[in-house]
Amino acid sequence: MTPPPNPASRPERVGLLRYLRLFRRDILSAQPAKLYRAKMAEFRTPFFRSYLINQPDLVDLVLKERPMDFPKSGRVGEGLRPLLGESVFLTNGADWQRQRRIIDPAFEGGRLRDTFPAMVAAGKAASARLSEGVTEIEAQTSHAAADVIFRTLFSIPIEHEVAAQVFTGFRDYQRSQPVLNLAAFVPLPGWMPRFHRARTKASARAIRALITRLTADRAAAIAAGTAPDDLATKIMTTADPETGRRFGTGEMVDQVAIFFLAGHETSASALAWALYLLALYPDAQERVAAEAAAFGENPAFSDMSKLTFTRDVFREALRLYPPVPMMVRQATRGERFRNRDVAPGSQIVISPWHLHRHALLWDQPDTFDPDRYGTEAGRACLRAAYIPFSTGPRVCPGAGFAMVEGPLLLALLLKDWRLEPVQGRAPVPVAHLTVRAKDGIWLRLHRR
Ligand code: HEM
Repeated sequence: MTPPPNPASRPERVGLLRYLRLFRRDILSAQPAKLYRAKMAEFRTPFFRSYLINQPDLVDLVLKERPMDFPKSGRVGEGLRPLLGESVFLTNGADWQRQRRIIDPAFEGGRLRDTFPAMVAAGKAASARLSEGVTEIEAQTSHAAADVIFRTLFSIPIEHEVAAQVFTGFRDYQRSQPVLNLAAFVPLPGWMPRFHRARTKASARAIRALITRLTADRAAAIAAGTAPDDLATKIMTTADPETGRRFGTGEMVDQVAIFFLAGHETSASALAWALYLLALYPDAQERVAAEAAAFGENPAFSDMSKLTFTRDVFREALRLYPPVPMMVRQATRGERFRNRDVAPGSQIVISPWHLHRHALLWDQPDTFDPDRYGTEAGRACLRAAYIPFSTGPRVCPGAGFAMVEGPLLLALLLKDWRLEPVQGRAPVPVAHLTVRAKDGIWLRLHRR
């Protein structure tokens, strides 16, 4: 059986300059194969020292037990700041806590039920956009995931004029900034000048102007009592239980920008890889198609419980191709990890990519096996070594949302389409802002 594609690892020993060059090109193939067996690895550069922690108890310590001692570094996401401002993705400490107190209630279980019809509509529209023949599927899943976000957040489809402009604006933003990949998440030495290109700044300004229009219109509709009951209304009308403050329009623009970016890039990546895996493994594909057929034309939220295998396929795609492959934190005080002193200021790298394929934790880590989650060993790994949404208080607020969206869209697409890989076009994973394929993911589509 063909294994799912994995990037080649770099040679064991390379000099610093070569490493930095490889790293800048792609953070995944810049790593040595031994990281798939390591519990921790130290990277020394003249500018900073970083530690990749690759064992469950250390990951728990940083993300769950003492997260406030390991904030996001101020330089993390430097390339994103013109677009995201002071959004929840970039803040730390009290500001971040306050923002999460307002955002989290919008994603609670009951709200997911309310957003479900909008997700179904987006999934049906995505299937209707496809046609027979060879297609690049990442572009399709990006379109679909952006549609889900606009419909659930602002009750407008992607065809809406402003929504369509925001979607293409984001694409331009990413193109205008070649370093908008994970290498940009690694802090540069303090003396190195940083600048955002004029084009990047201009496209960030344009996107923010569009989002400002959407939020200002919504604020007016809320005041007039005519606002739809969607995620934007919920977030804009929720007061922080501790201070009584709501998000103002400016602050809401930062949050909408991150919802759009974090919510559509990630889901699009996961969906595209899941579809590729189904094309590669026709037996699994037929099992998903059978669940999708039983799911019916107009599914209700409670029907999601019928998609058990489809959900495990989506889980397995998130294991093999975690959309956020690495996360970086900063140690604020001296630590001792695995008998090594970690100085304050060190970078702590958590790598879902390596943890999810760890040879000492997972059975057959490089094999696609959605049924593993039905076994005791698979469930134990799910608890200990599976963090596609991160974990602890800074866990992705959209995790529950994404675990409905992913299986739902897979089912709605597989109900109508049969997928085949295209000869000679196996995708090579690379880390851009999320894990994408170097030259796209190509599939041949047949109507069922
Ligand atoms: C398959 C889909 C998704 C994956 C794999 C994913 C993964 C992640 C991960 C790993 C983080 C933590 C990043 C870090 O700490 O450095 C994160 C944060 C975040 N995600 Fe998601 N996400 C997904 C979908 C969504 C959706 C649908 C939304 C919103 C609608 C969303 C909104 C956010 C936000 C706002 C944050 C920042 C949270 C904070 O820092 O407190 N994500 N996501």
